Amino acid sequence: MTRFGAAVFALLVLAGACSATSPTPQPTSTTLAQTPTTTRAPAPVSGTEGAPGLGDSYYPDLGNGGYDAQSYTVAITWDPAVGTLTGTTSMVAIATQNLSTFYVDFGELSLIEITVNGAAALASKTDSSDINLLVEPTQPIAVGETFELVITYSGRPATIRSVALPIDAGWTTAPDGTSYVVTEPDGAYSWFPVNDHPLDKALFRFEITVPDGITAVANGVNTEMITDIGSNTWIWEGTQPMAPYLATVVIGDVVIVNDEAGSAQSGIPIRNVLPPELAANPPAALALQGEMLNYFAEIFGPYPFATYGIASVEGFQAALENQTLSVFGADIVRSGFFETVLVHEIAHQWIGNWVSLADWSDIWLNEGFATYAEWLWEENQRGPQARDALIAEAYATVEGLAPLAPGAPPPDDLFAFSVYNRGGLALHALRQEVGDDTFFAILRRYTDRYANDNARTVDFIEVAQEVSGIDLSDLFNRWLYQPELPPLP
Ligand code: TRP
Ligand code: ZN
Repeated sequence: MTRFGAAVFALLVLAGACSATSPTPQPTSTTLAQTPTTTRAPAPVSGTEGAPGLGDSYYPDLGNGGYDAQSYTVAITWDPAVGTLTGTTSMVAIATQNLSTFYVDFGELSLIEITVNGAAALASKTDSSDINLLVEPTQPIAVGETFELVITYSGRPATIRSVALPIDAGWTTAPDGTSYVVTEPDGAYSWFPVNDHPLDKALFRFEITVPDGITAVANGVNTEMITDIGSNTWIWEGTQPMAPYLATVVIGDVVIVNDEAGSAQSGIPIRNVLPPELAANPPAALALQGEMLNYFAEIFGPYPFATYGIASVEGFQAALENQTLSVFGADIVRSGFFETVLVHEIAHQWIGNWVSLADWSDIWLNEGFATYAEWLWEENQRGPQARDALIAEAYATVEGLAPLAPGAPPPDDLFAFSVYNRGGLALHALRQEVGDDTFFAILRRYTDRYANDNARTVDFIEVAQEVSGIDLSDLFNRWLYQPELPPLP
């Protein structure tokens, strides 16, 4: 909906004259909670509509403008027997402009009630598959004002097809009944209302109510348990801001296993969430996480979060670096390359989660770095020759594929192979060019500068040139933006 269209729509609603002949798209879902009984003071400000996107060059619909989310409380009740979810999500945000109306990303679950600062608000969409839900508070919100949006909703969360990759994502229920959430780069909106772009990081608290005997885990630390008759509410909280796509829950017949040795070794409480069979028989590599946390703390800076661990789920064929709780397909956990994927997802906690993307087109900053982290770990564990063997293998594989510049992958194939491997090779080319001391100093200045913040490729190049004193534009241009693959560094 255009800014103008929405303004017209708001006026029509206020006038009670939203007729079928209106040129404005008709809302498919309008929720009116109770009519306010008190007379309101005149609105102190007038405002305009917040933007329906955050200007992402690949996915302009993701996220919304006009406010800055500070914190979310996502309270959900999950009934595994029927597959239904009832949720109440609160978003506390600060208006960055005077807002008459604003958008929040929300998928296809049914709206029950919407309030802004406790007063019933209107909400509408152009059609049910549109992720931009327009919210109209009873009175405008002034720039700088902190406001609370509370949405109650219910339904059967379904998997979604992301804009960026050809696999099912979102809220997924595995064949063994375990439910889990994987939503990079988009899809957080399929289970709670959200400003779904990494540019708007916020604090998260999860309150997950499930039947007795079922375990519910989310990002962060289990700060509280509320016991009721037949059900329990599991409360999980993060201490650091998080990009919404990293929000996750894992609910099912799973066991939370504390890694006492790894926790003692790293100083970071490590807890893994495993199906009973893996909890009884964990693969040896799982014990390496404490050492990995220590190693990457040296490379990228102190581990940024309060806890870490993996959650393993059956039937999932990938791994995703959800903040403090990477989700792993159980087949990967049982595979011979588990150690490599463990390294990759741990490295993402710094690179991607702590230092986040400002634009999805720069995805190589996440995946190229996490791939290079695999090679650094190999070098640390088994020496430079073992590392070079991995690099040669990656180069040979990239060479055998159609050339694809990792700095600008296709928007519908964001996680293309080249983004990972040629992205990693670009970092190795940089290391060869500037030498080890400068290379590692670049990594540290980059994470220091953009911690808890967002970066673009130009920001990394700027740091690399600043630390090295070398003009690196040609190197990065050839490795990231020209289709032709440069020679093995
Ligand atoms: N970031 C993941 C990795 O570590 C890959 C990924 C992106 C993914 N989107 C996903 C995995 C969605 C599972 C589901 O490489
Ligand atoms: Zn990755």
